[in-house]
Amino acid sequence: MIKGFTKNMTKFLVDLAIFIGFLLALDPRMTGIDIHEWLTIAGVAAIILHLLLNWNWIAGITSRFFRKVAIKSRLNYILNWLFFVDGVLVMLSGVMISQVVLPLIGLQASQAFTWRQLHSVTANLSLILLGLHLALNWDWVISVVSGYILKPIFILKEKSESKPGEVQG
Ligand code: HEM
Repeated sequence: MIKGFTKNMTKFLVDLAIFIGFLLALDPRMTGIDIHEWLTIAGVAAIILHLLLNWNWIAGITSRFFRKVAIKSRLNYILNWLFFVDGVLVMLSGVMISQVVLPLIGLQASQAFTWRQLHSVTANLSLILLGLHLALNWDWVISVVSGYILKPIFILKEKSESKPGEVQG
């Protein structure tokens, strides 16, 4: 087994699921409001998993933030906090205007235009923050895709092409 394979692939698959879910969440008219609400609520579990899987990094930078931390990690850390706060606001405002989940538990959604506006603004902002978050962690994405996915495929292909006893055409 390649070193770190299980942990990095788990992180990668969780991140990929969050990414796809997030893109779907950005277009409630395409998915329909039921899927929009249930998908994003279920997404909270995936986000918690994402945070737990990256806990060593979070705890490491938190304890060293006011001492020696590389500028890129510092920037990444601040951006992650902005992303987190924005995410909490998207979810909170979403729940406040909910048309499916809230009525199901007997509560009435808020008619206040401010919650709708807040939901729209924070959702748009989250798209920008996601882009920056991805850009700052792009090295890791590339290393997982090339090291744990493309490289093993390439090695398997090479092995299957050079099986002993096979007549080469
Ligand atoms: C990752 C989290 C979420 C994202 C990225 C997101 C994104 C969006 C976007 C982009 C819109 C369209 C806004 C507009 O028309 O200007 C929207 C609308 C809406 N969202 Fe969310 N949302 C999220 C979570 C939630 C949650 C948790 C709920 C409720 C449980 C919710 C309920 C709604 C409702 C009711 C609408 C209005 C739909 C309509 O009237 O057509 N959202 N959301």
